[in-house]
Amino acid sequence: MTRILLVGKKGQIGWELFQSLGRIAVVVATDRSELNVTSRQDVFRVLETVKPDIVINATGYNDVDGAEANREDAVSVNVLANTLMAAASRQVKAFYLTYSTDYVFDGHKKIPYIESDQVNPLNVYGQTKLDGETAIISSGANFLILRTSSVFSLRRPCFLTSFLRRAQQAAQIQVRSDLVSSPTSARYLAEITTQIVSMGKDRSFEWLSKRKGIYHLAGTGIASRFEWAQAICTSLNLM
Ligand SMILES: NC(=O)c1ccc[n+]([C@@H]2O[C@H](COP(=O)([O-])OP(=O)(O)OC[C@H]3O[C@@H](n4cnc5c(N)ncnc54)[C@H](OP(=O)(O)O)[C@@H]3O)[C@@H](O)[C@H]2O)c1
Repeated sequence: MTRILLVGKKGQIGWELFQSLGRIAVVVATDRSELNVTSRQDVFRVLETVKPDIVINATGYNDVDGAEANREDAVSVNVLANTLMAAASRQVKAFYLTYSTDYVFDGHKKIPYIESDQVNPLNVYGQTKLDGETAIISSGANFLILRTSSVFSLRRPCFLTSFLRRAQQAAQIQVRSDLVSSPTSARYLAEITTQIVSMGKDRSFEWLSKRKGIYHLAGTGIASRFEWAQAICTSLNLM
């Protein structure tokens, strides 16, 4: 059976992956206390001990606004960690899968971005995620990078949870109508990721390696934060 090392098991996507991957593989899952992805020593020690067929890195520095003031932290988790994890994956002959973001684009395109579109991040978060992608590509590892958008779940802070919290506290809330994305359920992402890694059955490394690269994987809808808030209110009868 395929052996998967899941890193970041307590995050939005990581937690959902932990639930779904167990159906198709032997899963060793770590949180920050078991594997700090910015520590070379941790990364190589754990990968060499676990000897996985596939490494799934579900960690990230995701505070888009916070990254402007905390560039070093964002670089550590989004760039350095991917450099280390991809290098260690290559060394132990594991396939490397991780997630990136629509923030690698500048948002000027009026229709959904495709993989071959020109990247042009406008903020520190987007730049660090793009630099992480570049580090993975140049590592020589076999990899999949799944670019996704506005991930939501009820487990960790995200637009859905912050809007619900604010809706309980105030009669009126201001929500941006100019920030448009494709809201994506963490559970959906985890289920599709699980299907992808199961496609190669017992030859997952070879199967995935033939398809390595960057792919876009997000919810099919498009909504501004305002439209998203309206949809939440409608579905919960809040209006
Ligand atoms: N959220 C989004 O809207 C979104 C959109 C596009 C792409 N993505 C990408 O998807 C991936 C997962 O995002 P998510 O939404 O699931 O994020 P999340 O809920 O914030 O989870 C991130 C996880 O990373 C862990 N982590 C952070 N620094 C670490 C370190 N140095 N060592 C070990 N673990 C560390 C956190 O640990 P703690 O639990 O200890 O904090 C947390 O469990 C990230 O690569 C992100 O960039 C997310």
